[in-house]
Amino acid sequence: MTSVPPPVGEQTPPSVMDLERQYLLQNYARYPLLLARGKGCYVYDPEGRRYLDFITGIGVNALGHAHPRIVKAIREQAGQLIHSSNLYYHPYQGPLAERLARISGLQRSFFCNSGTEATEGALKMARAHGHAISPEKHEIVSLENSFHGRTLGALSITGQPKYRADFEPLLPGVHFVPLNDLAALEAAVTSRTCGIMLEMIQGEGGIYPLTQEFAARARALADRHNALLIADETQCGVGRPGTYFAYQRNQPVILPDVMVAAKPLACGIPLGVIVANEKAAAAIKPGMHGSTFGGGALACRVALEFLDILEELLPSIQSVGGYFHSELNALARKHAVVKEVRGFGLMLGLELTVPGKQIVLDAIGEGLLINCTHDTVLRFLPPYITTEKEIDRAVKILKKLLGKVPAQAS
Ligand SMILES: Cc1ncc(COP(=O)(O)O)c(C=O)c1O
Repeated sequence: MTSVPPPVGEQTPPSVMDLERQYLLQNYARYPLLLARGKGCYVYDPEGRRYLDFITGIGVNALGHAHPRIVKAIREQAGQLIHSSNLYYHPYQGPLAERLARISGLQRSFFCNSGTEATEGALKMARAHGHAISPEKHEIVSLENSFHGRTLGALSITGQPKYRADFEPLLPGVHFVPLNDLAALEAAVTSRTCGIMLEMIQGEGGIYPLTQEFAARARALADRHNALLIADETQCGVGRPGTYFAYQRNQPVILPDVMVAAKPLACGIPLGVIVANEKAAAAIKPGMHGSTFGGGALACRVALEFLDILEELLPSIQSVGGYFHSELNALARKHAVVKEVRGFGLMLGLELTVPGKQIVLDAIGEGLLINCTHDTVLRFLPPYITTEKEIDRAVKILKKLLGKVPAQAS
């Protein structure tokens, strides 16, 4: 029997999920959750169910949702000037660059729109730095298990075959070194190296911090071979580790030549940045790089407001992060399914002996948003406004979920 379609005008509209299935590239595997609004540490679905947001748009919504000072800055600036391109000056890009210089210890900024774009620009900076010395000096040393973005350049220095395989061949002259392997690093960096790329805490790779010794050796090798040391702070930076940047976490600070940042910088308005010392910045001459949207008035004003708030929040990121870490350690002691707890500040990972996907799905059912990276690592990127109260709530849910999982040998 053929079914008769309802008359036009009486058809039920397709759901958002149906539309996405039909009209979007099928590159994302979304969780089955529709979000309608957010306030503070919580997001809400259209039925008003609330979820504690401990993934914050993968580390973007650093002040949670609808922070009154961010909303006010957006409202005011949207009514004045959103975008004017880099053909002209506006009041906020210079002050933001000055602020970033002050907090990073580096000197000159270039603004773009994402972590990938910032990485890509830093890569060009390293290549141009090397090219000015010798055409042979074009090699990049990066880390196994790293993640630097999805464009061809950023993929070329991303040390995870699963992201790269479909797009080979990528840039030549990239050497991958195992995390914290001093001998391998020593062997990979030569006079042909123009840049060494590091995440001080690997994020997508499963929350693995670099040792201070490894970062110091990378600094020494970059100096010895006149290569640029580049820190990708897209995920681990801008307050998340409890310092402005992850390279400032240990003393003495291992200062890179170039730092890239993005995610939380403008609290959800796209903004990425490359901050470079004078030596690295000198590689980029007029006309060599640019971005139409990069560093617009709205994004820069919001970032300035965010950095004001961040200054006040840094001590609490450290203390609340420390509390979360110790509570996760307590869970690890009770549940054999937990292998290890890693991370700093409000960037923490809990490695399981089993895949974490089902726990992430079950957590949604319990009103908690987290995700799983590297198959077995539950990742927590809570907002910087989190208090011990929200940590207790998340830990209670995790305890319930972990209690149901039988431990297996990994
Ligand atoms: C360390 C690192 N670099 C670069 C990127 C890419 O940033 P975006 O997705 O903003 O392009 C990411 C994203 O997760 C990241 O974690």
